[in-house]
Amino acid sequence: MKKAFVKSYGCQMNVYDGERMQEQLAAIGYGLTAEPDDADLVVLNTCHIREKAAEKIYSELGKLRRAKTSREKHGKETLIAVAGCVAQAEGAEIVARVKSVDLVIGPQSYHRLPELIEERRGSGKAVIETEFPEAGKFAGLAAPKTRTPLTRSVSAFLTVQEGCDKFCTFCVVPYTRGAEYSRPVADVEAEARRLAELGVRELTLLGQNVNAYHGVAENGETVSLAGLVASLSKIDGIVRLRYMTSHLRDMTDDLIEAHAGNPKLMPYLHLPVQSGSDRVLKAMNRGHTAENYLRLVKRVRAARPGIALSGDFIVGFPGETEKDFESTLELVREARYAAGYSFKYSPRPGTPAADRSDQVEETVKDERLQRLQALLRGQQRDFNQACVGKDLEVLLEKPGRQSGQLIGRSPYLQAVHLPGEGLKPGDLIQARIEAVGTNSLSAHCREAA
Ligand code: SAH
Ligand code: SF4
Ligand code: F3S
Repeated sequence: MKKAFVKSYGCQMNVYDGERMQEQLAAIGYGLTAEPDDADLVVLNTCHIREKAAEKIYSELGKLRRAKTSREKHGKETLIAVAGCVAQAEGAEIVARVKSVDLVIGPQSYHRLPELIEERRGSGKAVIETEFPEAGKFAGLAAPKTRTPLTRSVSAFLTVQEGCDKFCTFCVVPYTRGAEYSRPVADVEAEARRLAELGVRELTLLGQNVNAYHGVAENGETVSLAGLVASLSKIDGIVRLRYMTSHLRDMTDDLIEAHAGNPKLMPYLHLPVQSGSDRVLKAMNRGHTAENYLRLVKRVRAARPGIALSGDFIVGFPGETEKDFESTLELVREARYAAGYSFKYSPRPGTPAADRSDQVEETVKDERLQRLQALLRGQQRDFNQACVGKDLEVLLEKPGRQSGQLIGRSPYLQAVHLPGEGLKPGDLIQARIEAVGTNSLSAHCREAA
């Protein structure tokens, strides 16, 4: 049996795509291996969002090239495929830079992976596929009949929307993932039902702009994300729903109401803001002000008190002054985050901001990043600390590192570990939070459902 090694970098949508590629490969007879040196086919599912992410792939490819040479000496076929956003952005350049790459395949063509492998074998030449084909990839991908070993068994990702039309001036996603597209409702429902039958209890609906979802239902009507959440909540076995990533401009009233009225929709909102300075927000083409953001957060909190907020931030966007940066700190203090992800601005080829002459010095970016991260870390600690002594609902996911221990997640996405006697993954329990550790909360079970 031939073996494949698939590794995904970047966002959750890549994780989802990686799983779907594994299913594709399983359907044509590949087994999976966790050892790249042992693989007849290696797929690197790449991310192009920042320079570091993209460059990492080339050092990875260097290692793979050496492994390939030594395997080929023993007459073993070794195909190297580059998928994901670097594949889409760089296409043929990848093969020009690393000759041993056999396949370059963009995110819209994964359903064609089996035939592209055949094409490569037939022609002996590198195959480059970076079109945005008419026939969507989702329709063509194999249905998940079995759970691959890497899939989290209790909690699963489900991509419902892909691509982006917003063109923030720093971002490659509109170029690598193409125009916004929403999967039809029936298609999403069918996949959700299959996942539930396989034992999945929590679904995280994914999209680069997930709340811009507008899927067509079988009766021809358009369904919003709130509508989709409502219908998926009715599926037997699905006890929790989450969604990410959202954009402020698509945070509609019905979605905010869903947080108030649907107990299966978890009280967690990932709502990136990038900057707290209106001047910078404008230059980023975000289409909203800091005030718009804070007002929206207030409305969401009024609808679902205690909801956990997380966000993404960029420091050192071209032209960002100390005063602009301080506005970001100010916004963070006001919004109060349960978790925050902050990045140094990285100029990306082909994006408008990369061409600006007022780039911020690296040392300034470093210093700002440290200050922002210290603030966010403190807020996260406070959020976690406030849970101590409370009972939280925990969905148990998997065994912990210590024997007898189980790890699950709180509604607020915190990892929680507890003694698992009499319990198993998939159980939804009430847990009393006892202490805050470095990466998780510790608890004990108060009540099993
Ligand atoms: N659709 C989401 C973001 C997707 S990209 C949104 O609109 O908020 C994920 C995160 O990567 C972004 O939120 C941003 O914080 C970061 N990011 C994107 N491009 C970047 C760049 N050029 N440099 C640094 N960080 C970047
Ligand atoms: Fe990128 Fe902006 Fe689209 Fe988010 S909304 S994916 S940051 S272009
Ligand atoms: Fe990276 Fe592409 Fe996701 S650039 S963040 S893998 S959409």
